[in-house]
Amino acid sequence: MKFLHIAALTAVALAGPAFAGDADAGKKAFKACKSCHAVKNGDETIVKGGKTGPNLYGIMGRQAGTVEKFKYGKSIVEAGEGGLVWDEETLIAYIHNPKAYLSEVLGSSAKSKMSYKMKKKDIEKGVDADIAAFLLSVSPDAAPAEAEAAEASN
Ligand code: HEC
Repeated sequence: MKFLHIAALTAVALAGPAFAGDADAGKKAFKACKSCHAVKNGDETIVKGGKTGPNLYGIMGRQAGTVEKFKYGKSIVEAGEGGLVWDEETLIAYIHNPKAYLSEVLGSSAKSKMSYKMKKKDIEKGVDADIAAFLLSVSPDAAPAEAEAAEASN
C-alpha cells in the first residue's frame, strides 16, 4: 500500500480560509453536478441526477471510491484504500481539480473518470464550500464533530 500525503495536505488546507459554506446555496449550486450525480437515500430522491458518477448521499465521512456498484477508476480506489476520506477539506480540493488532487494524494500521476473542474470564478465566490456544506447536510453518518462545526459556522 502506498503512504499518502494526506496529513501534509490537510495541514496546508487548515492554514487556508475557514469553511463557511451555505448548504441551501450549495443545494442550488449542485446543478453543476447533477448531470452526473444524484443524491438519493434509498427510495428518497433528494436531488434527481445522472448516473455517470456515484450517488453522493452520505458521501461525507465515507472512504473515497466505495459507493456500492459504482465502477470507479483505479486512482480514486487506490487513494481511498490509502486513507482518503471525504470531508470538507478533501472534497473541496477534489472538486477544484479531481485529477490534480488525486495525483497529489497518490504522489504520482493519477487518472480521474470525473471530467469536471470547478471554474475559478465559482471558487472565488465560495461555491465549493457551499456544495461541501450541502453534501455534509445529506451525510447523517459524517463525524458529529464535523456536523457541529458546520452548524456553528452557518
Ligand atoms: C461529467 C460528469 C461529472 C460531473 C459534472 C461531476 N462529477 Fe463527480 N464524479 C464523476 C465520476 C465519473 C466520478 C467517479 C470518478 C472516478 O472513478 O475516478 C465522480 C466522483 C465524485 C466524487 C467521489 C465519490 C466517491 O465515491 O469517492 C465526488 C465527491 C464528486 N464526484 C463530487 C462532485 C461534485 C460536488 C460535483 C459538482 C461540483 C461533481 N462531482 C461533478 C462525474 C462527474
